Amino acid sequence: MITTKTTIPWWRPETGAEEREMVLRVLDSNYLNDGDVTTEFERRMAARLGARHAVAVTSGTTAIFLALVAAGVAAGDEVIVPDLTFIATANAATLTGATPVLVDVDPGTLNMAPDAFAGAITGRTKAVVPVHVSGRAAPLEHILPLARDRGVVVIEDAAEALFSSHAGRYLGTFGRAGCFSFSPNKTITTGQGGLVVTDDESLAVRLRQLKDQGRPVRGTGGNDVHASIGFNFKLTNLQSAVGIAQLDRLDSRADRLKKIYRGYRDGLAGVGQIRVLPFAVDRGESPQWVDVLATDRDRLVAFLLEHDMHCRPFWYPLHTQRPYRRPDADFPNAMSVADRALWLPSALSLSDDDVSAVCTRIRQYYQR
Ligand SMILES: Cc1ncc(COP(=O)(O)O)c(C=O)c1O
Repeated sequence: MITTKTTIPWWRPETGAEEREMVLRVLDSNYLNDGDVTTEFERRMAARLGARHAVAVTSGTTAIFLALVAAGVAAGDEVIVPDLTFIATANAATLTGATPVLVDVDPGTLNMAPDAFAGAITGRTKAVVPVHVSGRAAPLEHILPLARDRGVVVIEDAAEALFSSHAGRYLGTFGRAGCFSFSPNKTITTGQGGLVVTDDESLAVRLRQLKDQGRPVRGTGGNDVHASIGFNFKLTNLQSAVGIAQLDRLDSRADRLKKIYRGYRDGLAGVGQIRVLPFAVDRGESPQWVDVLATDRDRLVAFLLEHDMHCRPFWYPLHTQRPYRRPDADFPNAMSVADRALWLPSALSLSDDDVSAVCTRIRQYYQR
């Protein structure tokens, strides 16, 4: 029985004494810019992910954008992107000057549908950006060989898939580059922040130049040698300090998220109106948030909110957004899930009792 009325958040960033301590150290050092702390953050992330290089940038969006630019994507090219993703994936492609080509998704996983990817490749296709939605692996066993055969560069959008593994490797390490986000609703946050990982030395050099005015190495801002044109997408030591402080808690966070997923999966088993989308947690896949397909979604969300349980409805399919408008008929699968998909409360702070309270309320809603 539910007796208390405490807020059950959809997500809540967690920071504490370690973050404060690390940030204070950076303040005391008086080197707030992208420096040794960011280099250390990159080194640790590369080591943990099993990638040769990691380049920290200002956000997941800039990570994808720079990875595409570094891979040579430019005006006149096409970049294949799934219709169901955060708009950043398509925006990053558009901002290179290329044309994003939206493709339909698999309604069982919400990830890019392999057939749709195959059907969208043209002579102008330069890259594909598979997105690991909610931390669930995109169908890489189909995408990677086809992309290789057709000369298409794979840049993974692993913004929601930090330390989620697939076939024995971390997502984000399969393509030419993998991109992560450290925005506040991710497993690790730096406030805003992002990372590109790659095993390709020349791509890493290009990424470093692109993120810092074309400088191959950190300079003085005065008598520097600029090898090329670049942006300023540096991640500061202050932000990296927050990221490093959270790294130690990664395993416990991933375990917690898996437990929350199992709680919903088991707690909602047999409720015909809601389908908890599966994660291969026993094989290392790690949910970022728990996603479901729910009948009467919007009213369910409102009902849960009345009980202080916060959900997040899914993104609208990109083809319905003004910059990317296309006919609904081209995206039957995305349309079939668009008004049913939502993320259940998945905050790291959720107790097992919180998860079962949400399940109880959902059962109660559908029994009315
Ligand atoms: C799938 C996906 N791609 C890209 C991004 C962009 O990341 P950021 O917000 O750090 O720019 C996000 C998250 O916010 C995301 O969920």
